[in-house]
Amino acid sequence: MCGIVGFTGTKDAAQTVYEGLKRLEYRGYDSAGVAVMSGGEINVVKKRGRVSGLGGEILGLHGNTGIGHTRWATHGEPSDINAHPHSSGRFTLVHNGIIENFAELKEKFFPNTAFVSQTDSEIIVRLIDKFFDGNALAAVAKVSALLKGSYALAVMCTGFEGIIVVKYKSPAVVGYGTDGNYIASDCPALAGLCKEISVLEDGDLAVITPSEVKFYGGDLKEIRRVKKRNHAISAALDLCGCPYYMLKEIRENAAAVKATVKAFSSVKKNLKAALVGVNRVIITGCGTAYNSGLIAKRYIESFAHIPAEAEIAGEFRYKNPVVGSGTAVIAVSQSGETADTVGAAELSKSLGAKVIAVTNAPYSALTRIADVVVPVEAGPEICVAATKSYTGQIAALYLTACLICGRDSSEINSLPELINSTVEHTDINSLAQICASANGVYFLGRDLDYAVAVEGSLKLKEITYIQSEGYPAGELKHGTLALIGEDKVAVVLITDKELAAKSENAVEQVLSRHGKVAVITNVAECAERLSGRVPVIPIPACSAELSPLLSAAAVQLLAYRTAIILKRDPDKPRNLAKSVTVE
Ligand code: M6R
Repeated sequence: MCGIVGFTGTKDAAQTVYEGLKRLEYRGYDSAGVAVMSGGEINVVKKRGRVSGLGGEILGLHGNTGIGHTRWATHGEPSDINAHPHSSGRFTLVHNGIIENFAELKEKFFPNTAFVSQTDSEIIVRLIDKFFDGNALAAVAKVSALLKGSYALAVMCTGFEGIIVVKYKSPAVVGYGTDGNYIASDCPALAGLCKEISVLEDGDLAVITPSEVKFYGGDLKEIRRVKKRNHAISAALDLCGCPYYMLKEIRENAAAVKATVKAFSSVKKNLKAALVGVNRVIITGCGTAYNSGLIAKRYIESFAHIPAEAEIAGEFRYKNPVVGSGTAVIAVSQSGETADTVGAAELSKSLGAKVIAVTNAPYSALTRIADVVVPVEAGPEICVAATKSYTGQIAALYLTACLICGRDSSEINSLPELINSTVEHTDINSLAQICASANGVYFLGRDLDYAVAVEGSLKLKEITYIQSEGYPAGELKHGTLALIGEDKVAVVLITDKELAAKSENAVEQVLSRHGKVAVITNVAECAERLSGRVPVIPIPACSAELSPLLSAAAVQLLAYRTAIILKRDPDKPRNLAKSVTVE
């Protein structure tokens, strides 16, 4: 949700910032810009389009201090004018977040001024310039106190060889390099550049110069922020010969599950302690993270017989939820920065619930709220569509459910090999061809298969733009069947022997209405019954409860292959960004 980056030091700032922006592009990619200080003056290049579109022009920016931005538009269409940085007088800034009171502030302080852009960000730089009385840090602090919403800002001031940073509800980290100091939205942007980072807390300001970094509270008193190891390594950002990150990350599903299982042992004790006295569990998240919650709900209820609900974080936090001291809220988020998930966790904590974070981002906002953090060890996930983080989440949630009731979880140790086999040997190309020419794809399943069906549908629609829904197989005849016809495809997931015959009914119902239907299954009897009648995509056999780890890989591959056939960019689907730090 917009990436910001900045550098001040001894090397070329434009190139450094440009490289940083390319790493952050998954946060937004509708426009980009760079500002560099040269001879005390700030020069800006910004444009609609991807970061690479800046290429030639930024070569004309010379200097050692610079900031940059890659945008996901909220206020104001993607355009050259609305691209960041924005400038006013002696100040230039980049902003990640949303200023909810920008219209009131404009009305109050600039009633008769025509702004250059349609963004909510321009008001910030205008106000900083207005309040500047010789102390840039004081002006930034004063303006921050007026802002409502979320912001991570990197601000440059003419004549000052450094960057002022302020953060509130949007992420920002400072990095300590050998050739200067950095600011970025997240740690992977600093991989290979900074071994150590400091994470800014809400309300923090920082002043970064080539030789030092100082932190301040809103009252401008100096504060300390600890240095932490930057775990992100640049090799993890390599495509490893794959044409897209999505394929690379699907191939890393097995490693994500393996590493997550290994890391779980380190949190078992604290997790067990946090769950004492819990008689109800709510799993919350957004998008794919919510979909992993659908699986967790089933695990917790069927293994531990504890009532469990999966709640979409953006709904949960505004519905006056019934949450109390006997409730554990498991907040699931790859980035740990999703505004609604962080908000839901904060609310739950204030209501007395135990908050457990399941996240792939160890220094994220969610980890600072949670009583216990269950790590997902998927490594950096660059593709906007979540893949390996989803299977990592399923593994973490499976182990959590097993821990609650003391259930044996050892079968999961054999899953990485089966996931690899699914990724390497599942022949999904013919089904992808069928989906690519369809006018709608329905993913159907029962129980855990239904949960994966919802995720399969999200994956397909977000990277191919084909209309798609995930439905419980039994619900088909209660409405959705009306949509089935020759131009529609139903993909039925069947991985539970006990429910196979029931789900096969859905196959028959679609066939009878001349819809196209294919089955992804690891139930041998089901494959036998349907072979020759409909395309059957076999995946390896394992218990029904762990089959989501295999069927997930299969539906991810299906979405990926379909996107490739349709010549879509699976890594950067239209209108989306990876880390949704605004509401
Ligand atoms: O970082 P998070 O896991 O909190 O992100 C939640 C969703 O924005 C994310 O899963 C989104 O739905 C993905 N694009 C799905 O592939």
